[in-house]
Amino acid sequence: MQGWIEDIHARARTRLGSGHVASYIPALARQDPERLGIAVCTNAGELYAAGDAEIPFSIQSIAKVLLLTLALRTHGEGLWERVGLNPSGMPFNSLAQLEAERGKPRNPFINAGAIVVTDRLVSAFATPPKHLRDVARRLSGNDAILIDDGVLASEWQHRSRNAAAAYLMKAFGNLDNEVDEVLHTYFSCCALAMSCKDLAIALSFLAAGGQAQAMDERFVSPGLTRRINSIMSTCGLYDAAGDFAYRVGLPAKSGVGGGIVAVVPGRMTICAWSPALDESGNSVAAQYALELFAEEFDQMPPSG
Ligand code: DON
Repeated sequence: MQGWIEDIHARARTRLGSGHVASYIPALARQDPERLGIAVCTNAGELYAAGDAEIPFSIQSIAKVLLLTLALRTHGEGLWERVGLNPSGMPFNSLAQLEAERGKPRNPFINAGAIVVTDRLVSAFATPPKHLRDVARRLSGNDAILIDDGVLASEWQHRSRNAAAAYLMKAFGNLDNEVDEVLHTYFSCCALAMSCKDLAIALSFLAAGGQAQAMDERFVSPGLTRRINSIMSTCGLYDAAGDFAYRVGLPAKSGVGGGIVAVVPGRMTICAWSPALDESGNSVAAQYALELFAEEFDQMPPSG
């Protein structure tokens, strides 16, 4: 498996040079587009990695998986009164549907949806950003994970579009807490800095029926795991979710930091990272690495 991951890494490097790093905040615009890392965490607890797999990067929208998982743990099915379950077919930060659909976002993986989910967590926890950071640490078994203050400050400074979505939802009665506190918590989670290895381990519970590799306890039920994977399949790569499903066919979630986490249910979790993005906001080289991974997956022995 190690040789196989290194081969995929070498082949995916050919895509470096395509796409552009996120430029909406300076902290992300400074990223090196030549970086490429891949890490795999199997359900047997083995870890394989190639390239820049230990360099922390801004997890951005991958945080939406953590936010959703925690909100389903605390609020259960009641969450779906606040947010929908269908693909939006729109860019992740679009406001157009939100007005037409009276402040109920299409799904928890567009920005408006994640902000509603975050509102539920602000109601549930005393210090939500710290709680989210601590969950990321426990899930990955890495106590050094931090919220990047520079990214957080930048997100806050450039918050207008997310603030517009949040105020619109507040006006429709779909946010219980103050907009500023909800946005601060949402940005804090997006600003978590984690490596490919951290993320592959942290989200390993999605491949293992809810059993987290770095924790002794089951993090969520098998049924909840299946449901979260389903939402990743339909909405994880925004308006490009259909293209990605056709080419890769695995539940996945991307972020504008250039990371993508994909799940092979019952087998393993993979994280690929490279900062340059396509026009939908998904990493060019990370998508290609996952495509190569999926194409060769049938060659892998069943125990892999
Ligand atoms: O709220 C935002 O727009 C960013 N903090 C996160 C967006 C993101 O990662 C979308 N990903 N592809």
